[in-house]
Amino acid sequence: MCSRRWEWSLTLEILLLPHLFLATSIQGPTKYAIPGGNVSLQISNLPKNHRSLIWFYTADQKIVEWESGDPKYFDTKFKDRAMLDLNSGTLHICKVQKEDSSTYLLRVQKDTEDEDEWKIPLVVLDPVPKPVIKVNKTEKVNSCHLLLSCVIQDQPVNYTWYWESGSFPKQLQNSVLEEVHTPQNYSKSYTCQVSNPVSSQNSTIKFTSSCVLAFSSGVAWMATWPVIMVTTLLNLLWT
Ligand SMILES: *[C@@H]1O[C@H](CO)[C@@H](O)[C@H](O)[C@H]1NC(C)=O
Ligand SMILES: *[C@@H]1O[C@H](CO)[C@@H](O)[C@H](O)[C@H]1NC(C)=O
Ligand SMILES: *[C@@H]1O[C@H](CO)[C@@H](O)[C@H](O)[C@H]1NC(C)=O
Ligand SMILES: *[C@@H]1O[C@H](CO)[C@@H](O)[C@H](O)[C@H]1NC(C)=O
Ligand SMILES: *[C@@H]1O[C@H](CO)[C@@H](O)[C@H](O)[C@H]1NC(C)=O
Repeated sequence: MCSRRWEWSLTLEILLLPHLFLATSIQGPTKYAIPGGNVSLQISNLPKNHRSLIWFYTADQKIVEWESGDPKYFDTKFKDRAMLDLNSGTLHICKVQKEDSSTYLLRVQKDTEDEDEWKIPLVVLDPVPKPVIKVNKTEKVNSCHLLLSCVIQDQPVNYTWYWESGSFPKQLQNSVLEEVHTPQNYSKSYTCQVSNPVSSQNSTIKFTSSCVLAFSSGVAWMATWPVIMVTTLLNLLWT
């Protein structure tokens, strides 16, 4: 009795083993989307001989399943927002929400019983707002010390500063830029560009001389009053 049972389980194992080894898992690159937008989760080549397709939102939540005939959409938040393209296996999602961020899973069963699995991470991000450049300048005898801060609230972004003749080296790319102007040597403009994987925005400030800013949008004044009045007056005279 005991030995028979042992034989049985051994046979079962031999039958199951090959299938365990033929399940392949492929990690796709991360997809990005903005709230309210549309996104298509696609794989490069769907096996021709597939028998069934299942898209998962998480490991235990199915979005849609196809075996034959029409795909079956499960009663999830994706019910009216997701569409499966049977030819390519692509899952189209419209009106994307932040909560849709997840690592999606496509499981494909081939007619050989082998299984292929794709993992596609989706990150839903707000576009970045237009940055505001704050200027703190300290006028010295023959120089002007500048602290330029590019301000973005509560959102991870990357900063890129540009001056008149190009961008700054990578190690200086931070939210704050420190510069020293002299009357002989200064940049007439600075641009702060902020970006995340879904968007990019920038603001520019301009200097009319080494320590005088031209009035422009996207600048928060931290200079002293007389300076502001002088530049405003200059601008009025010019226009
Ligand atoms: C999203 O897709 C729907 C349906 O295909 C379309 O009507 C809509 O304009 C698309 N929206 C965007 C932001 O692309
Ligand atoms: C401006 O920068 C100077 C020198 O770094 C500093 O002492 C001062 O507190 C700053 N002012 C403001 C308003 O941040
Ligand atoms: C002008 O300023 C830039 C940047 O601060 C510096 O690299 C360059 O050497 C300066 N040139 C002169 C002539 O001071
Ligand atoms: C910033 O840039 C790095 C390197 O290019 C990138 O890995 C990272 O995702 C970026 N972060 C944002 C918020 O865009
Ligand atoms: C700044 O934004 C404008 C459009 O808003 C774009 O044309 C320009 O190329 C951007 N400049 C930089 C340096 O990112």
